[in-house]
Amino acid sequence: MKALVYHGPNQKAWETVPDPVIQEPTDVIVRIDSTTICGTDLHILKGDVPAVKPGTILGHEAVGTITELGSAVTTLAVGDRVLVSCISACGRCSYCREAHYGQCTGGGGWIFGHLIDGLQAELARVPFAETSVYKIPAEPTDEQVLFLADILPTAYEVGVLNGKVEPGDTIAVVGAGPIGLATIMTARLRSPAKIIAIDLADARLARALDFGADVVINNGSEDAIARVMELTGGRGVDTAIEAVGVPETFELCTELIRPGGRVANVGVHGCSVTLHLEKLWIRNVLITTGLVDAFTTPRLLQLIESGKLDATPFATHRFPLEDTLEAYDVFADAATSHALKVVLSGLPVEPLPPIVATSAAAGS
Ligand SMILES: NC(=O)c1ccc[n+]([C@@H]2O[C@H](COP(=O)([O-])OP(=O)(O)OC[C@H]3O[C@@H](n4cnc5c(N)ncnc54)[C@H](O)[C@@H]3O)[C@@H](O)[C@H]2O)c1
Ligand SMILES: [Zn+2]
Ligand SMILES: [Zn+2]
Repeated sequence: MKALVYHGPNQKAWETVPDPVIQEPTDVIVRIDSTTICGTDLHILKGDVPAVKPGTILGHEAVGTITELGSAVTTLAVGDRVLVSCISACGRCSYCREAHYGQCTGGGGWIFGHLIDGLQAELARVPFAETSVYKIPAEPTDEQVLFLADILPTAYEVGVLNGKVEPGDTIAVVGAGPIGLATIMTARLRSPAKIIAIDLADARLARALDFGADVVINNGSEDAIARVMELTGGRGVDTAIEAVGVPETFELCTELIRPGGRVANVGVHGCSVTLHLEKLWIRNVLITTGLVDAFTTPRLLQLIESGKLDATPFATHRFPLEDTLEAYDVFADAATSHALKVVLSGLPVEPLPPIVATSAAAGS
């Protein structure tokens, strides 16, 4: 089969590799029908995730069809269409028993395209299949459910739920990339009164408005703290969600919240961040961090099925699977391509209409 193989920092190839085989009785083999690229894949390619060994197939998000079953698999069948999530669950360890699948100590957690071969391939071996994949009903398309594999549960669990967003809250989302936009989309499920999106890129802020932000602030050209205080009567927001992963934005979040407010950090940080406890101790703040557990995936799937959640606007570009290298270039050059998520399809591809760059509405 063909797959996207990581060969060490800044080296990748779309090449022929052996077909995956069942290794454990709990495995299945899945034909990849749709997959996508994550910002984390770009981090891996820069060499930021040394746990990924050269020779590993990348990718941790897919929709596919089961082609082969391990001998212990009884609740899935060949031909089932399934969502393969970024998080696998052994189903037996103490973390899995508490639905903290991201922390699985039984061989699950984030393994695809990290500790084992991933999903940017024609076929993939999926361990712990019965407790890790989600059967997809006939109705939704691949593209309607694909983003349940990572960005939607990440944003909802690590951003919105950790940040305890309640009806009527005013929240700030710092960073309007795919994760920030997914945070805006899923925060609306909890009826905040106002969503303020903050980013340096006007094009991203324009998308934030499309995804449901009420107000946008370009913190490159405006004083974001002053604007937020003005918008909240001097109080600060109830929850600030960090969706970038750099020290400035974490510190900004701690300055945007009201006393008793919450900072939910979603961004992956590569260097030390200063925690200003000398200012924060008196303000009763809650700070949370997290890796996604994907425990909300079934609920989010129900919302998609019932038409209450539409993630298809994330799909800005489509490519056939064999053009994965080109898709990486487009995804990595988001400033020019305006890509949010690129869909790689093992099935025939229908082109998407070109993206019309909307003018930024910073400050509206
Ligand atoms: N915790 C988890 O489980 C988890 C899972 C997936 C991704 N992540 C992390 O979430 C973060 C966001 O992911 P993404 O794919 O949306 O990333 P992205 O790079 O596509 O988007 C980041 C956005 O932040 C903006 N930005 C950069 N610097 C800024 C600054 N100083 N102030 C304001 N905005 C700024 C950029 O313009 C961009 O729009 C990353 O750190 C990613 O690694 C975490
Ligand atoms: Zn990811
Ligand atoms: Zn486990």
